[in-house]
Amino acid sequence: MRGIVYDGTEPAVRTDVEVRDPGPTDVAVRIVNAGVCHSDLSVLDGSIPFPTPLVMGHEGAGVVEAVGSEVSKLKVGDHVVLSTLKYCGQCSACNTGFPTRCRRSFGVMSQPFTVGGEPAYNFAATSVFTDVTVVDQVQAVKVSKDIPLQSACLIGCGVITGAGAVLNTADVTHGQTVAVFGVGGIGLNVIQAAKLCDASRIIAVDTLASKKDLALEFGATDFVDASDGGSVEQIQQLVKGGVDWSFECVGHPAVVGDAVKALDWGGNCVIIGVPAATAKVEIPITHLTHIDRGVRGCRYGGARPHHDIPLLVQLYLDGKLKLDELVSKTYPMESFSDVVEDMHAGRLARGVLTY
Ligand SMILES: NC(=O)c1ccc[n+]([C@@H]2O[C@H](COP(=O)([O-])OP(=O)(O)OC[C@H]3O[C@@H](n4cnc5c(N)ncnc54)[C@H](O)[C@@H]3O)[C@@H](O)[C@H]2O)c1
Ligand SMILES: [Zn+2]
Ligand SMILES: [Zn+2]
Repeated sequence: MRGIVYDGTEPAVRTDVEVRDPGPTDVAVRIVNAGVCHSDLSVLDGSIPFPTPLVMGHEGAGVVEAVGSEVSKLKVGDHVVLSTLKYCGQCSACNTGFPTRCRRSFGVMSQPFTVGGEPAYNFAATSVFTDVTVVDQVQAVKVSKDIPLQSACLIGCGVITGAGAVLNTADVTHGQTVAVFGVGGIGLNVIQAAKLCDASRIIAVDTLASKKDLALEFGATDFVDASDGGSVEQIQQLVKGGVDWSFECVGHPAVVGDAVKALDWGGNCVIIGVPAATAKVEIPITHLTHIDRGVRGCRYGGARPHHDIPLLVQLYLDGKLKLDELVSKTYPMESFSDVVEDMHAGRLARGVLTY
């Protein structure tokens, strides 16, 4: 079967990829669509270090093709969105509603694939840039067949991360003000979730002016062009004193600094973007202590996948969450390099592979 394989030099479509049969608690999923997230590019540029060879991709949806002997909640033919979170379900974090804090869900690596007969890793415990993947049953969440898989696949990372950061991690309430740094797949979902929370001002910030129309379409009230710097001053002109919430959706230490500076007294910054593993940020401590500001990180939107994914699907079916509009363009697996080029040029909300 096919798969986009990264061998440490270049990503390439290989036709000699095989995946193992599902174990007792696994499911095999035939992938129908997969979104390309910035984290996939971070593997290629080394910002997210990962052993190779690996089969790429982590934002996907498809149809269950086979189930393990102990799987009872999924059957062949079910439509599923895949989650990267292989949590244990037994630890204290899992049982208090925080599977993103499950120690056993972090750094999960295995080699369910072979490429040309040699073992190959899955990426983010998932791997969806391939015809068929095998994941643990907790990672496959059944969804209604009313949602097109082309839109549903984006829930697997971009939507659950961006919307979850607002709905689960932060506590944005009616009338509050929000700044969103980075209007990519993640940032757009922060914007639309902030709108769902009835934020009064949602200021989108990007270095590409071409992102303005998308930001406004998803619910931003204002757009700040950060290409010449000065985003903090522009935000403070729009909202005197600064914003209640800022979300960093870029993955750059300097942007984190700006996202903190843009806060009002008492405001909170949520960091979603993932910079290089060694990146550090320098924030004057008094800019936090003396004015009650907070900064926190957010993994995978604080998601509880079996609760949040059906909820996000329902919001979509009720017309409250834009997913079709996130799919800027579809590509065959063989055109992966075109998606990467279009992402770098800022032409996409999300590029989606279709198999
Ligand atoms: N925490 C998590 O669990 C999690 C999950 C998924 C993705 N991520 C990370 O979130 C980040 C965003 O991912 P994405 O898929 O939305 O990326 P993307 O490439 O789709 O979008 C990034 C956006 O940031 C903009 N940008 C770049 N530099 C900027 C700057 N200095 N100021 C303002 N905007 C700037 C780009 O123009 C682009 O619009 C990445 O770092 C990704 O690895 C984190
Ligand atoms: Zn992702
Ligand atoms: Zn656990």
